[in-house]
Order: sequence, then C-alpha cells, then structure tokens
Amino acid sequence: MKIRIFDTTLRDGEQTIGVSLSPEQKLAIAKKLDDLGVDAIEAGFPVISEGESKAVKMISDEGLSCEIAGLARTNKKDIDAAVDAGLRYVHTFIATSDIHLEYKLKMTREQALAKAIEAVEYGKSRGLQVEFSAEDATRTDREFLKKVFGEVAKAGADRVNIPDTVGYATPEYMAEITRDTVIATKLPVSVHCHNDFGLAVANALSGIHAGATCAHVTVNGIGERAGNASLEELAMALQCLPYEQKYETNIKSELIYDTSRFISKTVGIKVQPNKAIVGDNAFGHESGIHTHGVLNNPLTYEPISPELVGRKRRLHVGKHAGIHGMNAMLEEFGVKTTEEQSKLILEKIKVLGDQGKQITDVELLSIASDVLGEKGIKRIVHLTGFSVSTGIGTMPYAFVKLNIDGKDYIGTDYGVGPVDAALNAIQKITGKISELKIKDYGLASISGGSTALCEVTVTIEDANRNKVSSKSVGEDIVTTSVQAVIDGINRMMLKNILNEKQIS
Ligand code: KIV
Ligand code: ZN
Repeated sequence: MKIRIFDTTLRDGEQTIGVSLSPEQKLAIAKKLDDLGVDAIEAGFPVISEGESKAVKMISDEGLSCEIAGLARTNKKDIDAAVDAGLRYVHTFIATSDIHLEYKLKMTREQALAKAIEAVEYGKSRGLQVEFSAEDATRTDREFLKKVFGEVAKAGADRVNIPDTVGYATPEYMAEITRDTVIATKLPVSVHCHNDFGLAVANALSGIHAGATCAHVTVNGIGERAGNASLEELAMALQCLPYEQKYETNIKSELIYDTSRFISKTVGIKVQPNKAIVGDNAFGHESGIHTHGVLNNPLTYEPISPELVGRKRRLHVGKHAGIHGMNAMLEEFGVKTTEEQSKLILEKIKVLGDQGKQITDVELLSIASDVLGEKGIKRIVHLTGFSVSTGIGTMPYAFVKLNIDGKDYIGTDYGVGPVDAALNAIQKITGKISELKIKDYGLASISGGSTALCEVTVTIEDANRNKVSSKSVGEDIVTTSVQAVIDGINRMMLKNILNEKQIS
C-alpha cells in the first residue's frame, strides 16, 4: 500500500526556533524535496507575511511534480491569501481541544465546529483541494473529535488530518482515534505527529497501521519544540522494517542524506550525531566487537546498508577499538602493518582513549607514522617548490609547486595574507584535479614568545563532501599551514584512490 508523504519542512519545520527562510531558500528546499519524491509539500502559511506569500507563489509557479499546499486558519482572509499565492490546495485548521478553545480561541465547541464547516465550504467554493486539521486532536474529547471530522467530511473536505499537536499521544491512542476518523469520514486520513515524548514516528506508524494513508513529516524532524515526525525515519521504517512490508512510499531513499545535509545547512540547524538515518554516527562503528562483526558481514551491526540512504560506513578508532577495525581504517589510507606494529599502534590508541582523548584520522596516522616511520605512510602529493612574498603596499602572493602521483603542477595566487595566498595557490591546483576544498582552518599557538610553535589543523573536503583532517606543528605559520594542507590533501586523495580501486 502506498503511503503519501506530506512534507511540512517549509511550514512546521520553519516554525523551529531561530529558523527563518528567504523565498529563494524556500524554493531551493522545495526543489530538493520534489527530487526526493515527496507527494506533497506544505510550502508555507501565505497570510503571515509578504515574503511568505511570495515564497509560496514562487514554489507553486515552479511546476514541481508534487502537490503544493499552504496553511490557513478557518477564515476567508487566510484562504484567500492561499489562493492569491497561486495555490490549488489548502490545509485549514482550527483547534478542537477544550484547553485551546477556552484559553486561546475563547470559543465554544459548537462555534469552532461552525468555523470548521464554513472554512471547508469556502475553500471548496474557491475551487481548492481542502485538507482539514483538528488542531490538538489528541487532547480533544474523543466524541467531539469524531463529530468534527464527520461534519467537515459532509461539508466537502477532501482529506482530514489528525494533529498530535503537543506530542501527547501514545501509539495505542493514535491508532484508536485514527480508526474513529476513518470510520467517521470515509476520507483519506493523514497523521501529523510531534515529538515531545520522542514518539512522533512511532505514533505516525501506528496511525498508518490503523488506516491513515498519509503522514505529515519534516526532514531531520525539525519543527516546533521537539519537532515533527522525521521524514527519513518514517520512510525508512516503512521501507525496511519487517512489520511494515505491505507499505511503500515514493521517497528515493538514496537521496535522503544529501537532502538532509542540504536542509540542515540552509536552515542552520545541525543534526544531532546520534540521529537515526542521517546523524554522523548512524553508520559509524568504534568498538572492536562491532567493527570486527561489520567487517565480516555489515548486517551484524547495521540494520540497513548505509548506501541505501546515500551514505557510507564510517569506522572509528578509540578506547573500545579492536585490531581488525583499526587495520581496516589504516588500510583506507594505504597503510599496511605487521601484527607487531598493529599491536603497538592499538596500545597507544588505548592509552590516549583512557585519557579521555578523541582519536581522529589525524591522531591515528600520526601514531602510525611514529610506529612505522614516515616511510610507512604512503604519499602521492609532494611539495616540491614554495615561495611567498608579502609586505606593505603589495598584496601577498604565493607560488606553489606540487608533484602529484609523478606529475608536476604549478599554482600561483594572491591572498589577504601570506597563509591565505599559499592556501589559495594550493587550492588552485587541487581544485582542478580532484575538486578538493580546504573546509576548515584552525591555528593555535603552543608556546609563547616570537619563536612560539604553532599548530595548524585543517579539514579537506572532496566533491562528495567526505572530509579528512590533518595537523601540523612548526615554527613558521605559513609553511606549517602549507604542510597541514598538503598532508590533508594527500590523505584524501589516497583514500579516494584506494576506494575507487576497491569499487572497480
Ligand atoms: O501541530 C499542529 O497542530 C499543526 C497544525 C497547524 C496542523 O501544525
Ligand atoms: Zn504541527
């Protein structure tokens, strides 16, 4: 059975504290959502501002494949604003719980019901597809909720939605009121679940089991307070969990991660590392037992393959690491060790781990080079020439010569300072040959005085947004920065070359 995905990232998601999007940003997100395969997008709440109305209009004019809806209260002004924004589909709502009626709307139940019916009739008279929501449905008197849904169905609503506005439902109750609603309306029923108790996806699934055919969701689960049911969790649960096998969606799962990253960046809300499906750690393994299992058969500790959602597996070393996982990580950088060397490297990692230190690629490779000597670490990028000129009245200028895999490359560039000029010159070469970018740059002074040692940390990112870090310590800021960048580029290229070899 096909479950319809109604994405409200651009409406409920935008109600996340601190999020405010320009019309252009909203359009860019809408296009991504359409590519992802959502069936409907709630593009906004047109009546709230000119910018919002413009954004909704831009989205509705774009000719996307999915349906475009807009939110409206149960009044003519809001519904007219939706029509003016070019919409053919309105999502109209009024609260039905006694607490909202008494303290927010100052209305009786009968008055709210009358407004709901009037809005549905008006929406239909304007030629719209009308979806009606009984806000705070899960705290609404159950008999009254049935009555409201039954009456709006009679008034001509095309669809009804059950909002669990404050995430108050349990899966059992969500199922009960979904069944009530299906019987009372005989219409397609949607569920709209908030995550205040971490139950949004479970409640949405339960609503679906009880007969709902559509779920309102947001990417990364963003939304008011604790957010909404997350698109990626619900879609993957429907696609992969054994109990859900009779359901499917139109979501192109391999685009999920890219969409999540794009939306996180555009709205400025980071995804928590342990977030299911899209968090940094969702396909990461550290403990020796797990990495060993995953290396033998990924299904031992991964319920689904990371590639299914557009991701890659990530191995990590730390205090819980085992020899197999560590060797696999070193091999990603072309480092081969004897049994004795592996044991030594692992011992050092455990000492650092016991001191509470994080062991990144940088530390792992520097421990490995301590144990194996520099020769043990393969390099494909060599710095063969470098000069930089700076002064007052002239713009800093750098010349860089690199030998990459036996071939010479020259890069020159200006910068706001000598480090900037040098990094720009390197980037000119590497940007051309493998689309590598210097993503982050950090500088710290290790000791005091004019001969202080400096520590430079950089992150290099490739075209697929894979990242590696590297660190260099030295007396001269410019050459230390150049060394750190070259090391990072070297690691990234090595990793990518070895990866390609593995694939082909
Ligand atoms: O959570 C909610 O109740 C809503 C309504 C506007 C449907 O977002
Ligand atoms: Zn909501």
